[in-house]
Amino acid sequence: MVKIVVVGSSSMDLVVTSPRRPEAGETIIGTSFKTVPGGKGANQAVAAARLGAEVTLIGCVGDDHYGSLIVDNLQKNGVSTDFVKPVTGVESGTAHITLADGNNSIIVVKGANDFITPDYVEKALESIKKADVVLIQQEIPEETVEYVTDVCASNEVKLVLNPAPARKINPEVISKATFLTPNEHEYQVLFDGKERSEMLAALPNKLIITEGEHGVRYHNGTEEVVIPSYKVDVVDTTGAGDTFNAAFAVALAERKSITESLRFANCAASLSVTKFGAQGGMPTREEVERVVAK
Ligand code: RIB
Repeated sequence: MVKIVVVGSSSMDLVVTSPRRPEAGETIIGTSFKTVPGGKGANQAVAAARLGAEVTLIGCVGDDHYGSLIVDNLQKNGVSTDFVKPVTGVESGTAHITLADGNNSIIVVKGANDFITPDYVEKALESIKKADVVLIQQEIPEETVEYVTDVCASNEVKLVLNPAPARKINPEVISKATFLTPNEHEYQVLFDGKERSEMLAALPNKLIITEGEHGVRYHNGTEEVVIPSYKVDVVDTTGAGDTFNAAFAVALAERKSITESLRFANCAASLSVTKFGAQGGMPTREEVERVVAK
């Protein structure tokens, strides 16, 4: 079994479905409300575990009811929570999601996720060093992303840095990360809207831009390549990026080539959007393999 370590957020997603988004100052009637586990770190950990990896999440929850539910859910999905600690007197992270017009908009309140500091992560250093691949995102402090990037680079551990949500990243971190996986919006923030082909060629086999239904794009050192996505009936795109990153990490850990890993990841991500909730549609290994085999 390959070993994946995820350093990242866990949250409770509070999801409202509505025919449209309200204007400022307006009240409208929604269709439904659901509370489901989420957070980019926890989502990636669950997705990787369903795909057959041995997964450890390094994270923090609040000492509230949501915190217990988040930990229970991780354990039910086979994710090790040895390094997921409750922070006293602090609320768990929450994500306030509106599903409307076939798309989502999300406000994240980080809560306990802000306590995933370099000192906290240091306690799990041995697990990081033994990982086949480490996954990290940006719902946690910036200095933690920098610290984990340094640790992975100096121990030759592959790091997939998923720069979501978007914020500027120190160029040294970009150069040390093995892979950087922005979506189109995150790409614009990271590279100030610089011409995409220029950046892909400057960061071959590292920069992977996800373009939703259009697939993913990277430069293989010789030419720019697009790996197309799979066509499916979309129910909820929340967590598709997380499934993509997790599946990519699992495939890389299994020593598949970048192209093969991206195909596997595209397939997993496309299956994930066919059900409600960030984790609701995350596929098992068998489900992905069935589709890839077709
Ligand atoms: O990537 C999807 C996730 O982003 C949601 O589960 C929500 O928690 C937000 O953090």
